Amino acid sequence: MNIKTRITELLGIRYPIVQAGMSWASSSALLAGTVSKAGGLGVIAAGPMRPNDLRCAIHEVRQITDQPFAVNVALYNKRAAEHLDIVLEERVPILIASQGGPKEHLPRFKQAGVKWIHVVGHPDHARKAQAAGVDALIVVGTEAGGHPPPNGTSTLVMVRLIAQAVDIPIIAGGGVVDGAGVAAMLCLGADAVQMGTRFLLTPEASLHPAYKQKVLEAGIGGTTLVGPRSLPIRAVRNEFTQQYEVAELAGQPGEELNAIFGSSSLKMAALEGNIEQGKVEAGQGAALIDELVPAAELVERIVQETCDAMEQLWTKRG
Ligand SMILES: Cc1cc2nc3c(=O)[nH]c(=O)nc-3n(C[C@H](O)[C@H](O)[C@H](O)COP(=O)(O)O)c2cc1C
Repeated sequence: MNIKTRITELLGIRYPIVQAGMSWASSSALLAGTVSKAGGLGVIAAGPMRPNDLRCAIHEVRQITDQPFAVNVALYNKRAAEHLDIVLEERVPILIASQGGPKEHLPRFKQAGVKWIHVVGHPDHARKAQAAGVDALIVVGTEAGGHPPPNGTSTLVMVRLIAQAVDIPIIAGGGVVDGAGVAAMLCLGADAVQMGTRFLLTPEASLHPAYKQKVLEAGIGGTTLVGPRSLPIRAVRNEFTQQYEVAELAGQPGEELNAIFGSSSLKMAALEGNIEQGKVEAGQGAALIDELVPAAELVERIVQETCDAMEQLWTKRG
């Protein structure tokens, strides 16, 4: 089966399926390597990684597969400069950059032939990134796990807005967990999808088992947005999110809220399994997932579902 799009052509991958960069969950080689080997785009999330660990993970991915893969670098991260240097030195073919402007870094990446995919959360930022010369965009709506756009716009609206705003290829997500979701994104004008929460629930994701179980159990309304309005996170409801929301409702001052937010971390939940005080970041799509599926099987399954969904569309029209 083949689904050719501008993204599969640009990146040299078989399927228009990107495994989202997820701190801790994909901050190692196994998930990224497995997804790339299966025909999608695997992404190592550099966020929490020490430089040498990132280098080793890149080498390990290359032992798993010779297919293209990407590294995700958050440009505000204190180690961003080192992470970017490693991407160049190790000749990683694709960089996914989030949370910062691309302009100052782009020339040396272009010169090295690295494809630069930029994460945006507003049509204005999408136009700016296009004008700066990035190769493609990643767009997610408020359904997404991790850091959805602060404007609260849904995937349905955000993807459509950005598809209309730019000419370069876009990778869309936030709430996409199956082939029906992929088909929907393609209909909205996307050239590929990015899935985080779905790939988080695979044996290959590098997360404490209690974290995966907590996400599996999340149903409708099981996640919530917490944190500063300018950079909220979407996480599964737990003691931490409840404490934050109670304090917010009581009108506690910003410092108090920041202290509660800062007392919890993704690492506590992801590494240590502290799923009540830690940040169990996941998207609304968790409500649609009820099992762990091996990553390679998942890629195949989603491709099949996408083709079925598209075929059904035509059948329903008669
Ligand atoms: C546990 C977790 C960690 C994440 N870490 C990062 C990260 O390090 N960098 C980043 O750009 N996005 C991060 N994200 C956001 C994802 O890349 C992606 O945009 C999001 O998961 C897509 O929405 P979905 O979860 O509904 O599929 C994270 C998401 C999750 C769930």
